[in-house]
Amino acid sequence: MEDLQALGKLLREYRERAQLTRAQLARRARISASFVTYLEKGHRRPSAAIIARIAQALGLRADQQKQLLQSAGYASVEEIAQVSGLQGVLDEIAALSSQERDELITEIHRLLGRWQELRAKRLRKVVIPVAGWQPRLLSPAQLGQMLRPALEEIATAGLKEAILVLAPSRPAPQIALPKNLKLRQIVQEPQLGLGHAILIAQGLVGDEPFAILLPDDIILADRARSLCQMIKIYERHHCSILAVTEAEEAADFKNYGIATLGQRLEEELYWVEALAEKPRGREREREGLTIVGRYIVTPQIFEALQATAPDPNGELQLTDALNLLLQRQRICAYRYEGQLFRVTPIKMLLESLIEALDDQQPGRLERAMAITKNALYKLGRLRG
Ligand code: G1P
Repeated sequence: MEDLQALGKLLREYRERAQLTRAQLARRARISASFVTYLEKGHRRPSAAIIARIAQALGLRADQQKQLLQSAGYASVEEIAQVSGLQGVLDEIAALSSQERDELITEIHRLLGRWQELRAKRLRKVVIPVAGWQPRLLSPAQLGQMLRPALEEIATAGLKEAILVLAPSRPAPQIALPKNLKLRQIVQEPQLGLGHAILIAQGLVGDEPFAILLPDDIILADRARSLCQMIKIYERHHCSILAVTEAEEAADFKNYGIATLGQRLEEELYWVEALAEKPRGREREREGLTIVGRYIVTPQIFEALQATAPDPNGELQLTDALNLLLQRQRICAYRYEGQLFRVTPIKMLLESLIEALDDQQPGRLERAMAITKNALYKLGRLRG
């Protein structure tokens, strides 16, 4: 069991014994001084690797490092080695000839270099799927209009290349491209869902992290807080990130992907615990936050998409693939609270109108009208 208070106390003791200030320890362990403060106050749980760096910076003995690891809820180095089978690997390394060991070390360095290169890669690309049924209803001029704020948001975030996924046999949208943004287009032939639209962009994205922007979630006023912010978060944490926001009404749960959040990492940032695409079960009602159409994903999303089964409608869902990715990698959720207009209420409006006509229930018609009014009000405010 972890005991962060005890860990904090211990850390402070060891630091004072080593006669180091927080800033000095931070410098030696290559972490920030405020992180040292958080650790000593028991407000953060460090990774096992950070503990190893701190232990080295403080010149701790193996038993002291073990004590720190245990207070943070980790098994000791020896236990980790045994449980993970690492002990066997260590024994094998010990049995190698010195030439074989040198070759192995060269190979490890090469791999580490490649890993660091990948980590250092800046986000450059964004995929914008517009092959769904909603964008298909729009004329090229309307599609261009809808894309305008999205492209500006992308340019503000400093991305260099946008990959548009278009529906087949539709004239290309009329767009004025912001400076420094290159546009590439691909066509999604079968209409097999958002996940499929992302999967077919793999060839153009390559082996690097990238953003996904769904332009029917329109962010006008606070553009700098969405993708821009998420890219900064990516540069700090190097993991996939989803934008999420509070559900406005119970019906949202069956209209959006839903993220259940865990521990808070920093202001507006949480670890994701589970994801569900448009959950219908009653038990999930009013739990979790809705996914907004802004994502940053690691390239492993492509493997996850390939391994994801289609939903009952035969569509490949990005949320399902992210859920699979969650078993391998951590994903965090950025809580977006800016001004957002979602085209989806229009879909809800159509659905409830049709239901109302079907059942002849006046209550439902009123509800449909309320949704219309709300959507028009929000649109009006965005224009103003
Ligand atoms: C898609 C995603 C959903 C997300 C939504 C955001 O749904 O599948 O998880 O919440 O975008 O707008 P769609 O709008 O394509 O039904």
